[in-house]
Amino acid sequence: MSDTAAWWRSAVIYQVYIRSFADGDGDGIGDVAGLRQRLDHLADLGVDAIWINPWYPSPLADAGYDVSDYRDIDPRFGTLADAEALVREAHDRDLRIILDIVPNHTSSEHAWFREALRAGPGSPERDRYIFRPGRGPGGNRPPNDWRAMFGGGAWTRVTEPDGTPGEWYLHLFDVEQPDLNWENPEVRADFEKTLRFWFDRGVDGFRIDVANSLIKEQGLPDVGDRQHHDPGPHPHWDRDEVHDVYREWRAVADTYDPPKVFVAEAWVPEADRFARYLRPDELHTAFNFDFLKAAWRAPALRESVERTLREHAVVGAPPTWVLSNHDVARHTSRLARDPAAGIGTSLDSMIDLPADLDAGLRRARAAALLIFALPGGAYVYQGDELGLPEVEDLPEASLDDPTWRRSGHTQRGRDGCRVPIPWSGDGPPFGFGPGDDQPWLPQPEWFSRFTVERADKDPESMLALYRRALRIRRETAALGDGPLTWLDVPPGALGFARDHGFALLLNVDAEPFALPEGAEVLLASGPLTDDGLLPQDTTVWLHVA
Ligand code: GLC
Repeated sequence: MSDTAAWWRSAVIYQVYIRSFADGDGDGIGDVAGLRQRLDHLADLGVDAIWINPWYPSPLADAGYDVSDYRDIDPRFGTLADAEALVREAHDRDLRIILDIVPNHTSSEHAWFREALRAGPGSPERDRYIFRPGRGPGGNRPPNDWRAMFGGGAWTRVTEPDGTPGEWYLHLFDVEQPDLNWENPEVRADFEKTLRFWFDRGVDGFRIDVANSLIKEQGLPDVGDRQHHDPGPHPHWDRDEVHDVYREWRAVADTYDPPKVFVAEAWVPEADRFARYLRPDELHTAFNFDFLKAAWRAPALRESVERTLREHAVVGAPPTWVLSNHDVARHTSRLARDPAAGIGTSLDSMIDLPADLDAGLRRARAAALLIFALPGGAYVYQGDELGLPEVEDLPEASLDDPTWRRSGHTQRGRDGCRVPIPWSGDGPPFGFGPGDDQPWLPQPEWFSRFTVERADKDPESMLALYRRALRIRRETAALGDGPLTWLDVPPGALGFARDHGFALLLNVDAEPFALPEGAEVLLASGPLTDDGLLPQDTTVWLHVA
């Protein structure tokens, strides 16, 4: 493997949503065996590392973000031996492995939670979670007014071992995801044990799930009208004390040679608060959701890039650039909507709006070249390299996301971006597994246009573009971490230079304009006009003398 300790400052990391990536054993569910068989696809693509969504034993109430054992593999995904083989085989191909750790909550099937239910109020077993008596007569009302992220209240009442209605436990997500008590030293020690367990098996780092939760305000006060994204202190998001946890984790990571790394999932709206997670003795990187949410408009994109660079510079951390992941609607489909429509990141925020898929694909190509040329690291969500759109019309009976259930069947949730990858062939299951077994979420017939097999043969495909871009990125010292200088471009466009004569121009919605005199085109996301001008929704990478 390339040996630079700071590899993560410029890394392109491919997100494997394991349940939907490739199925090795033919049960319709992606697994470690399937991922091992497809490692060459990732090596050929030219990424530096793979982040694997949770693969631990889990009832899959929230697709594996409900972990019942942090130090094992769910039998549906494989065995520990498979995982160890995967790490070796990935390393042989120069691919690093990042796992997903879920510290805010366990599954309600975790041994600790079962013990907590059995042990009763006031017990050390209950103290690993957040149990409280209810309010009002007979404790009938929840301890406070906190809401769960997937809809409904954040508290569920338990029946005590003697059969009486008892305490309530906190779950900021689904009922099956009880929040841990991070004031409890045993909880902290156990997570350090989990980190070491996987680090000792060669894993190179962790993505930290909802890294900005964990600590709750003493006394658990009501949240009132305060929204998640309001500035100022919040009783359960982004509490100052959470940073102590990450300083401890960083110390563990730094005992390894080369040091292990972390990436935070932290939807923290205030730039200065967000940057605190990236201080030199805390986490290495964090997903940049500010950019993911920016509208396809030159000023919005530029403002987000500038804000990102500014906030990361304060703490000396490299930014990351993300277009899609398993929690948001695929960007081909988001970009297919009118940029002025003000859509959010979810399918539900855009499902009723008309979609221009050709525009979406054009913009997705232009956006890929943008993120791969910006300073820092970048993420590719499985299927991005195929230009895969969101599946917007999954049959309701197949919807599995707790959002669908907890919203009383009013929000479709996140399944549309989690449909198993089409590898080959003309109809489902598109080579997802070894036989004809249908995958756990149905694939639409139109996936035939987006298979890896088809893209592989087409020099103009999204896949071909990604491969070329990532090859150039590897060969170009100026790309990845490093400085950026803005260029003067027409309104409606973006332009910047990196070191050694590299330049990027992106025409978002300006009139077609000329490239600089003498510039050599290294790569273009789409054709130039007959007169050699840069048209709308198109990015070029240039070498300028
Ligand atoms: C994160 C995950 C998401 C999960 C939630 C609860 O946001 O990305 O998929 O549902 O945390 O663990």
